[in-house]
Amino acid sequence: MLSGKQPILVLREGTERERGRDAQHNNIRAAMAIADAVRSTLGPKGMDKMLVDSMGDVVITNDGVTILKEIDIEHPAAKMIVEVAKTQDEECGDGTTSAVIFAGELLKKALDLIEQNVHPTVIADGYRMASKEACKILESIAENVKPNDEEILMYIASTSLTGKAAAANKDLLSDIAYKAVSAVSDEENGKVTVDLDNVKIEKKHGGSVEDTELIEGIVLDKERVHPSMPKSVKNAKILLLNTALEIKKTEVDAQIRISDPNQLQKFLDEEEAMLRKMVSKIEASGANVVLCQKGIDDLAQHYLSKAGIFAVRRVKKSDMEKLARATGALVISEIDEIEKSDMGYAGKVEEKKISDDEMVFVTECKKAKAVTILIRGGTEHVIDEIERGMHDALSVVSVTIEDGKMTAGGGSAATEISLGLRNYASSVGGREQMAVESFADAIDIIPKALATNAGIDAIDMLIELKKAHKEGKKYYGVNILKGKPGDMKKMNVMEPMRVGLQAIRSATETANMILRIDDVIAAKGGGGGGGMPPGGMGGMPPGGMGGMPEM
Ligand SMILES: Nc1ncnc2c1ncn2[C@@H]1O[C@H](COP(=O)(O)OP(=O)(O)O)[C@@H](O)[C@H]1O
Ligand SMILES: [Mg+2]
Repeated sequence: MLSGKQPILVLREGTERERGRDAQHNNIRAAMAIADAVRSTLGPKGMDKMLVDSMGDVVITNDGVTILKEIDIEHPAAKMIVEVAKTQDEECGDGTTSAVIFAGELLKKALDLIEQNVHPTVIADGYRMASKEACKILESIAENVKPNDEEILMYIASTSLTGKAAAANKDLLSDIAYKAVSAVSDEENGKVTVDLDNVKIEKKHGGSVEDTELIEGIVLDKERVHPSMPKSVKNAKILLLNTALEIKKTEVDAQIRISDPNQLQKFLDEEEAMLRKMVSKIEASGANVVLCQKGIDDLAQHYLSKAGIFAVRRVKKSDMEKLARATGALVISEIDEIEKSDMGYAGKVEEKKISDDEMVFVTECKKAKAVTILIRGGTEHVIDEIERGMHDALSVVSVTIEDGKMTAGGGSAATEISLGLRNYASSVGGREQMAVESFADAIDIIPKALATNAGIDAIDMLIELKKAHKEGKKYYGVNILKGKPGDMKKMNVMEPMRVGLQAIRSATETANMILRIDDVIAAKGGGGGGGMPPGGMGGMPPGGMGGMPEM
């Protein structure tokens, strides 16, 4: 036998390893801790969090995904929960807190089952079945929405803003969200798509949130390069340039030695002539507005203003793309190759003073499929949180328009699913049935957390909600104001169906993934992302090759 031989070292020295139940418990606890961290922000009475990073920068937010992105999370399983929030945000832009606390609750219930000796893979199977059924139930209670159902879409936007800093100006912001999404939505063969890239968000502090406005066109946080250029241009023929109106510097280091002052003058004259030529080419093209992604030389600015051309420099690349879409212009990189057909069109280009700064407004565009939301507010923190709210509102309106489906919120859909799953569980049988029942319990966390956060007794609320739903009141959810169940549809608490579907799917997938792990092998310094690179200390681990077993 091998007894008495040196041990075999497979893993690098310092590698940490957790196995079996320890690994499971620790992973689940870490994931649950993340869910606990965001639970108090859920719903209309959810509180905000103030996050301070290592540089002392402060973010105040109610947004699940923002909180989780901002905090520095070390534990690998906890990081997986953060991914749930990110996926939810990418797919629907809302429901991030709900998805995370649901995933945490699924894991908590799984822990109870593990303690009763139900095998994790059985739990995962049961959860998967339950998740499929839950989505079916949600789809069955969803209702149709048409892209022009303005009132309903505004309710959906407004539900997504509830409980956030933006809620105080819910009506205005919902209206803006609806109009912005409608302006950029496209219908092809009866299928509606919304590209939110066509909605530009521009922020300017000063004024108040009520001054936030929707502009049909593009707003640039820039001023014209020269004060004697026209302040406003009607019937603008717009040239989009992504090359500098400057004399190119040579790539290599070159020195020019000049011995005679005349030579210097000649050299300067030559530069001037080149710039003049560039500008006259632009002039010849008929452009009266130049929006340049790169720099514009002082002299070129002077010539442009003499030619009565309105010019802006150092426009962001992303804005250039939006401008191209909105005005129908082609972005040009060679001044020699400008053609009339490359030119874009806007009814009006003008510089306006917003608060203390100048901004450029490109409006009455050829294609109106580009709008800007100019967010205003007293301070940077307020504006940032309004922007996050706006992101949610824009997202929910656009996913509802795309799918044409919505469900009632306030925990009403969750209650309907929970009851439906209990019926379904009896048809499943075996140990998986226990997992389906646990899933049904886990989804109750949504109405429970909504109630708790509003200072309502969660258990009483749950009992009353279930009673109402058994009586067929399928829209009943948590009425925060009354502390009793109420009809969410009548209260206009509506959400896109996709938010619910995605939350169920990604929470289940992640919970299952965490459940199936029974061995965590972490490299030294691993888990936190930093740490030593492999082989960082050099050399073989002691005994690495030494103790090979005999064949
Ligand atoms: N007026 C309301 N009454 C009850 N519940 C509401 C109301 N408005 C929104 N909700 C619920 O609040 C939850 C969303 O809370 P929120 O803090 O935005 O978290 P999430 O990040 O999950 O979107 C949803 O379940 C939604 O139905
Ligand atoms: Mg929300």
